[in-house]
Amino acid sequence: MAKKQNDTQQFRLDRYLSQSTGISRKVIHKILRDKLVTVNGEITKSASLSVSSVDTIIFDGEIIAAPAPRYFLYHKPKGLVCANKDRRYPTVIDEFEAEPRFQDLQCVGRLDIDTTGLLLVTDDGNWNHRISHPNHKCNKYYYADFEGTLPENAIEKCLQGIYLTKEKLRASPATLEPLSDHEANICIQEGRHHQVKRMFHALDCEVIELHRYKIGELCLENDFPVGEYRPLTVEEVALFTQDNTPSSTSTLPNDQPNV
Ligand code: URA
Repeated sequence: MAKKQNDTQQFRLDRYLSQSTGISRKVIHKILRDKLVTVNGEITKSASLSVSSVDTIIFDGEIIAAPAPRYFLYHKPKGLVCANKDRRYPTVIDEFEAEPRFQDLQCVGRLDIDTTGLLLVTDDGNWNHRISHPNHKCNKYYYADFEGTLPENAIEKCLQGIYLTKEKLRASPATLEPLSDHEANICIQEGRHHQVKRMFHALDCEVIELHRYKIGELCLENDFPVGEYRPLTVEEVALFTQDNTPSSTSTLPNDQPNV
């Protein structure tokens, strides 16, 4: 049966076949029912079987290569929601409709509708998880324009972890770098819902503008146009592969002592 190997992208068999051959999922289901596909030498009719590039999948006498995962950098404008479908607002994924099977793409984490900046988009679920899941502690860097006056100990409070009332827990240590009396850079790792805005709220300030300029070691180029996207380079994709996760080697902010 299908072989599992850590960190190779897993696909449902029907998706693997459909993406690699361009044949619709509906037709693939018939092909499977007709017993025309083997996985590692065994006929399989299971559309949901989990397979990857380590498996040998044969259809119509030909080995079917695994679909290549796609990775994009996107400069998110205001007004789009990080979703594939939304009843009220245009979505980020709609902006990718020129790409084949664009509905298989997913945002890596979420930016609020009014947040701008660096957003990654992929159809590689494992890679997405490594960046977006709080356990992986991948640094996310934001510029915030805010109203109100930060308390004198705001930097220390962020380092200690701001208490998030909704979750009833303390956020991971964050690095706050005030730039002026109404602007600051902040680096967080978890990316909980509205996390930066809620952290500023806990510091008696309100975020007016929020812009993400960096994830891990990947920066949004200053001149990269708003609303545009480009494929990531191989090197950029590798920044977020196992053992190379920027946050695992970063000195910010987890290595800083609590005060
Ligand atoms: N934190 C927020 O409050 N909003 C975002 O869009 C991202 C992080």
